[in-house]
Amino acid sequence: MRYGIFSDVHGNLEALKAVLKAYETENIDEYICLGDMVGYGANPRECLALVRDTCSHVIAGNHDFAAVGKTDVTYFNSNARAAVEWTARQLTEEDKAYILSLDIMVVKTDAIFVHASLDKPDKWNYILDPITVYKNFMLLDRPLCFIGHSHIPCVFLDEERVEFVSRREISHTFKPGDRYIINVGSVGQPRDNDPMSSFCIYDAVAREISIKRVPYDIDNAQRKILEAGLPEILALRLVHGE
Ligand SMILES: [Fe+2]
Repeated sequence: MRYGIFSDVHGNLEALKAVLKAYETENIDEYICLGDMVGYGANPRECLALVRDTCSHVIAGNHDFAAVGKTDVTYFNSNARAAVEWTARQLTEEDKAYILSLDIMVVKTDAIFVHASLDKPDKWNYILDPITVYKNFMLLDRPLCFIGHSHIPCVFLDEERVEFVSRREISHTFKPGDRYIINVGSVGQPRDNDPMSSFCIYDAVAREISIKRVPYDIDNAQRKILEAGLPEILALRLVHGE
């Protein structure tokens, strides 16, 4: 069984199409999206529909719930809040009902899938610092946990070691007894100074996890953001992957 696991599309249709194209040669059996389909980019409805058609499991992210009024946005910065408000105006009632129906965590035999973290997943904590990594490993009762949210693809090999993915691809074969927390990075708004979209492949038989990068049409994604009247910074940051 080979899973295609991706996250944080953020309404960037050009990036989502590039990632789905890249997956075509990977013999994927099942796709899982870890949330934040919308917010920031100019094509929230199109991305939502494509993710919904492609994935067997779709998990809600903070921007998805923010767009339907299901999570607090007071901690969002002004650009993120402007994007949430714009996105909320684009979504239909059916889109909103679909988002409201999503879970924030999926648990399988060998893995947990969640947008942000295992500790209070509806509080949208970031797994970045050693204490949060430690707390999440304490809560992990499966070999693997797949997350998104920070837009920084990496593999936490244990409480002390982390492997980053920026400007390269990584592949790990894990042994029985290993436990990994894998951040699959972001399709639509990478933030590790690498503008290429990030996506993950998990082969449950070979016990292998790969994170790969693919370029996409950034110019077109930028043009649409500007034409939509969204904050200019949301277009500019895509070039730098920040
Ligand atoms: Fe996100």
